[in-house]
Amino acid sequence: MASAQTDTLWNPQLYQGSHSFVWKLGASVVELLAPQAGERILDLGCGTGQLTAEIAKSGADVLGIDNSEKMLAEARRNHPGIRFQQGDARTFAVDEPFDALFSNAVLHWVKPPEQAVGRIHAALKPGGRFVAEFGGRGNTELMQEAFRRLVREAGISNFETPWFFPGIGEYASLLEAHGFEVLNAALVDRPTALDGEHGLRNWFEMFLSNTLDQLSSLELRSRLLEDVEAELRPRLYQNGTWYADYRRLRLVARRQ
Ligand code: BEZ
Repeated sequence: MASAQTDTLWNPQLYQGSHSFVWKLGASVVELLAPQAGERILDLGCGTGQLTAEIAKSGADVLGIDNSEKMLAEARRNHPGIRFQQGDARTFAVDEPFDALFSNAVLHWVKPPEQAVGRIHAALKPGGRFVAEFGGRGNTELMQEAFRRLVREAGISNFETPWFFPGIGEYASLLEAHGFEVLNAALVDRPTALDGEHGLRNWFEMFLSNTLDQLSSLELRSRLLEDVEAELRPRLYQNGTWYADYRRLRLVARRQ
């Protein structure tokens, strides 16, 4: 889901094309959800709707919510039979509570997390399940370290990532404090293949363009990205493929 702050960063074409790993890897989270025919399921941060459509194949009645109108326009075009609506994870409200709420690769964008957890709780029936995967503690650590150092050397001293990557204890405590019982949580290293020879560079262009835009010329931008590649190549490039050092927090919780 794009937040208001990131709306301009998200590009539905990239999201469907070279960044399709974001939703393709979410297929196993749909398996964890195990949607049943007739259930009402909310997909929070549905993006262009691929996983919403996957959930709908079960016969569940699915609603996709995303903050980005651009993503929603693509979702509606691709999946005309599914309902999509605009909403921010921190403030959305639903008319009728759901049996389950699903979210893939979104909640690390949502700060403060308490607000989203409060809205998720309010959107579920008592006993309803919350099944999610997103970046966990240590996610993209190598990539962030290299980028932080190189942008500092390029004169940008105020670099901060927009993400929240919690550990299991931290997020489970948050859920418990908001009326959830955590049934299952795991922090899983999942090196993630990026598409093409420029996969790593494209990742930074997609997700940290706000910082790259502060560089004074295209030449500097290009040089910085080359330096990032050179620094990370020994750790993140194998047999012709770039791998992002992703680590996922995957969880199942029940609303009490
Ligand atoms: C992730 O899915 O882990 C992720 C995506 C964008 C930026 C940072 C992390």
